[in-house]
Amino acid sequence: MYDVLIIGSGASGLTAALNAKQNGSTVAILSKTYPTHSQTVQAQGGINAVLYEDDDSVDIHTNDTYKASRGLANKENINFMCKNAKDTILWLDKIGVPFTKNDNSKISQRKFGGTKKIRTCYSSDYTGLKIVHTLFDQCIKNDVEFINEHILLDLIIEDNICLGVIAFDIIEGIVKEFRAKSTILASGGYAGIYTNFTTNSFSNTADGLAISLNSGVNLSNIEFVQFHPTALVNSNILVSESARGEGGYLLNQKQERFIDELKPRDEVARAIYQKIKANEKVYLDLRHLGLEKINTVIPQERRLALEFSGVKIEEELLPINPAAHYSMGGVKTDINSNTNINSLYACGEVAQTSIHGANRLGGNSLLEIVTFGKVAGINASNNAQDIKSILEKESTEFYKQKEYIKEIYTYTNEINFYKSKEYLGKLFFDNVGLFRNEENLQFAINELEEIKSKIPKMGVLDKSIEYNKNLVEFLEFLNMIEIAEVIAKTAQNRKESRGAHYRDDYPQELKLYQKNSLIKKVNNKLVLSFEDVS
Ligand code: FUM
Repeated sequence: MYDVLIIGSGASGLTAALNAKQNGSTVAILSKTYPTHSQTVQAQGGINAVLYEDDDSVDIHTNDTYKASRGLANKENINFMCKNAKDTILWLDKIGVPFTKNDNSKISQRKFGGTKKIRTCYSSDYTGLKIVHTLFDQCIKNDVEFINEHILLDLIIEDNICLGVIAFDIIEGIVKEFRAKSTILASGGYAGIYTNFTTNSFSNTADGLAISLNSGVNLSNIEFVQFHPTALVNSNILVSESARGEGGYLLNQKQERFIDELKPRDEVARAIYQKIKANEKVYLDLRHLGLEKINTVIPQERRLALEFSGVKIEEELLPINPAAHYSMGGVKTDINSNTNINSLYACGEVAQTSIHGANRLGGNSLLEIVTFGKVAGINASNNAQDIKSILEKESTEFYKQKEYIKEIYTYTNEINFYKSKEYLGKLFFDNVGLFRNEENLQFAINELEEIKSKIPKMGVLDKSIEYNKNLVEFLEFLNMIEIAEVIAKTAQNRKESRGAHYRDDYPQELKLYQKNSLIKKVNNKLVLSFEDVS
């Protein structure tokens, strides 16, 4: 039994682990992959903080963030994050994150969208990667235990208290139970559902969210999916906002600029997508930055463009398009990272902590995951200290999951679920994407019903036990289907446009809907409602 068990090994999980460990708890991180594969690595451009109060301030950072949220965030929560941002950066700097520094050895900052201020700290254009590597090193140094290659199957909940999790050991092919006094979900978001139309890694399959929903955990604002304006055409690999922050232009087919490149992401992404829908090409122009600057501030963008699009950005225009990038919604949490289940916490992209609301500012996600990773780690650790012990008996969830895995092996495999997964990505990008309307949303919902009805005819071709990737990918697909339904239904329920949720048939932002979507499962049925932003 652990004091604190963390599900997910991105920056929020690693930060939580480090803080819980340093608070005196026994800590393990359970993850289906490895820390260096986490989605955090994709946050290339930077992390926001007001470091030098010359013409910027915590209040301005708070207000910029709140404005972008379109009234769906809690200003106190935002202020808490922004107020602590400087200390968060200094802590990361102290533990070894190699931030880019200026000639005076001060941390450099760049411009990002949705603000007039220069407040995004960075480590070249590898910021998320450097943060993850540093946190991982620190976790190893502090003897955090890593349980890699285990995929979450269920939460053990008795009397509204979380007592740990059931997970599938991918290597051995067996179901296992892990008991913990406190459990933290840090398992990432759901933009990966837009298969082939997303910047997310293949492992971002909404596992934590689907399992939470089925275990009685409340979710919030799942309709809000952020589309990043610039991904490489075809591969959809992210081209960091830092490319525009450093002075890159967006050009239309006639090679004219058509929008302020640093408007909030939702506005820029929609403007680009409208052109693409009209069969125009859109380009990122970085030629005027020159090779020396490109190699200094955005070397990764240069490398990715060359490798995946065959474009030399110092000489040529780079074709781009928007792609699903980030989940604003998630497990509903308060400022202490509590969920509606006792001893269960959530932080990072899996959580909806009332920070981003309807639209997230670039550079605020890394800040949020480190800020609330710390909050979750300390609170979970303190909670564990208050619990003397928990009963170590095999749970009903354990038996249920063992039977479930056995049952999957009996599915007929007449239908190739990999094809359905690709279809799901396209279905969602086309119908539950940057522009939505009743007809398209209903179409997506009907198609999902059809896919769901065929699940027993899907299943796995590979019937082996050990290291059965086919089985793991099928489990992931089932989680994606579960949360895809929630995205479409919450998007259908919100009959207005707000931030990243844009409906052609309801183009206005309506006061009536200045509320958060609340999502629960009751008696196995999805129940949607709205609640005040508190
Ligand atoms: O564009 C980027 O570098 C992504 C940053 C973010 O999502 O915050």
